Amino acid sequence: MYEDSIVSVSLPGPKTGRCSYGDVHTHTLACLLLSNNVPEWKVTVGFSEQWTDTFLVLKVLKVLHPPVIRKMDISRHYNKHRPRHETSHEMIGIRNFHNFVKSMLISEASKVTEPHTRYLDMCCGNGGDISKLVHNNITEYFGMDIANHAVERALERIKDQSSVTGDAISFNAFSYTAGHMLDNMRNFDIVSCQFAIHYAFCDETTARTFIQNVAYALRVGGSFIITVPDADFLQKSRKLLGKKFGDQHYSVKFDSLNEFSDFGTAYEFTFKGAVEKLKEYVVKHDVLVRLCKDCGMHLKSSKNFSEYVEYKEHALWNRMGAIYHDVSRIYKTYHFKMDEYTSDE
Ligand SMILES: C[S@@+](CC[C@H](N)C(=O)[O-])C[C@H]1O[C@@H](n2cnc3c(N)ncnc32)[C@H](O)[C@@H]1O
Repeated sequence: MYEDSIVSVSLPGPKTGRCSYGDVHTHTLACLLLSNNVPEWKVTVGFSEQWTDTFLVLKVLKVLHPPVIRKMDISRHYNKHRPRHETSHEMIGIRNFHNFVKSMLISEASKVTEPHTRYLDMCCGNGGDISKLVHNNITEYFGMDIANHAVERALERIKDQSSVTGDAISFNAFSYTAGHMLDNMRNFDIVSCQFAIHYAFCDETTARTFIQNVAYALRVGGSFIITVPDADFLQKSRKLLGKKFGDQHYSVKFDSLNEFSDFGTAYEFTFKGAVEKLKEYVVKHDVLVRLCKDCGMHLKSSKNFSEYVEYKEHALWNRMGAIYHDVSRIYKTYHFKMDEYTSDE
């Protein structure tokens, strides 16, 4: 479909009558064209009837985007499939615990968000959270991730089960263009960003753009749920142990002992079996809360992963094979609610 930077795009023709090829469409294409210096456009293919108008637009962009994002380190890293059998028993237990925490968070958001049928998974990876939605009566899923092969695995997961319908797209969730699409889709009940928002905190513009994108997607009263490295834990550990710390499961390496800036404080992170020497950025609690507030969301709850040990007797804990280990203290959950949405419409 595409070769190098010459992209052949499939646009459905106006023959259908039920699609509105309005501003988002044109604008999104224009943005991509401008931001990526794509020299040529060709318009050819058709479309699938079961897509809604918005999915149609997104599918078109999915064809369009891979040559642009392929070069990025993050997508290359997450495109790699890491088979479970290559991971130690203990790491699997720890990973199960993290999945347990995500399940509890989704469940908490579902309980206080009615209705909660539409779920947007920003930076969805392989779509590992799709199976968690079924127990919470979430029926519509939409995933977005910059790593195209991971998205393919997410699409397989959607296909392999019947309770949740949806789609997934390979796309930069931190871009203005994603915001234009999401503004068009709107009205998601729950927006989730699991283990990924730290990549957006490389600079203020990216972080703000991402959170604005979430706000575009979320309906009033909807929930925004996050898991992210805990800046307080990072700060305390660094103060105690120096620029580099960790154990047999993880390692964190800062370049300096300078105070954390609001944006762009990088560290190199390894989490055995999942992340290897990847650059991440500190997400300070007060900065995250402020940025969300600027977009009409207020903080409902926030917990370090260690606090989830209180649910040890929960049936799900055993069922999921969770093992709590101190390494999990590095992470934290957030749950925001959308109060107001100031739209320019
Ligand atoms: C640690 S993985 C988490 C995946 C999934 N949310 C989960 O909990 O299993 C981080 C994900 O963020 C994605 N990611 C990073 N930057 C992104 C961006 N700008 N747009 C979309 N996805 C991004 C990566 O490709 C990767 O799949």
